[in-house]
Amino acid sequence: MDAREAILTRRSIRSFTDEPIDNETITKLLEAAMSAPSACNQQPWSFVVVRDRTKLDAIPKFQLFSRMLKQAPCAIVVCGKPKSRLISHVTDKCSRYWEQDCAAATQNILLAAHALGIGAVWLGAHPSEKVVEGLRSLLNVPEDVIPLAIIALGHPGEQKPPANRFDQSRIHYDQW
Ligand SMILES: Cc1cc2nc3c(=O)[nH]c(=O)nc-3n(C[C@H](O)[C@H](O)[C@H](O)COP(=O)(O)O)c2cc1C
Repeated sequence: MDAREAILTRRSIRSFTDEPIDNETITKLLEAAMSAPSACNQQPWSFVVVRDRTKLDAIPKFQLFSRMLKQAPCAIVVCGKPKSRLISHVTDKCSRYWEQDCAAATQNILLAAHALGIGAVWLGAHPSEKVVEGLRSLLNVPEDVIPLAIIALGHPGEQKPPANRFDQSRIHYDQW
């Protein structure tokens, strides 16, 4: 599957089989995540791979739209550190872009998963205080790190057709 096909055919998958996801696949997904662009190349992301059944089952108690995690064998929580010190002299200017950087990493995981035949769905965390604090205490996330997204992952238990949302009326040329 080439990149364009992966982009055009990716859908949110919310039903999974019992088959686990191997470490090699998780590494490929995280390699895709960390290939994302980021403001000032600050790469403010970190990832928590969650396989613990008790923890996966606990997330829907505070993220009310994540029931599929009870079926998913795995999730990746994408976290951002606004005050990332990778490049200290540009950090203040760039730190406000951490959400966009981590969203790009999240989308890369979704696309890489789809290309590998893995089903995935993006579940929101930040800016919901309830979800952020729930994840912080469940996963021991440090205070200066903010969970942006949870990605439920598994071998697909459902198939969906491409969404085809192309809408010519959303496009403007040279001026609005
Ligand atoms: C920031 C963000 C938060 C989302 N949160 C949830 C969520 O909590 N639960 C869920 O089932 N889907 C969630 N989604 C997935 C969207 O519902 C889904 O992408 C949208 O309906 C379009 O469908 P598609 O992904 O199949 O194209 C989220 C997507 C984004 C980008």
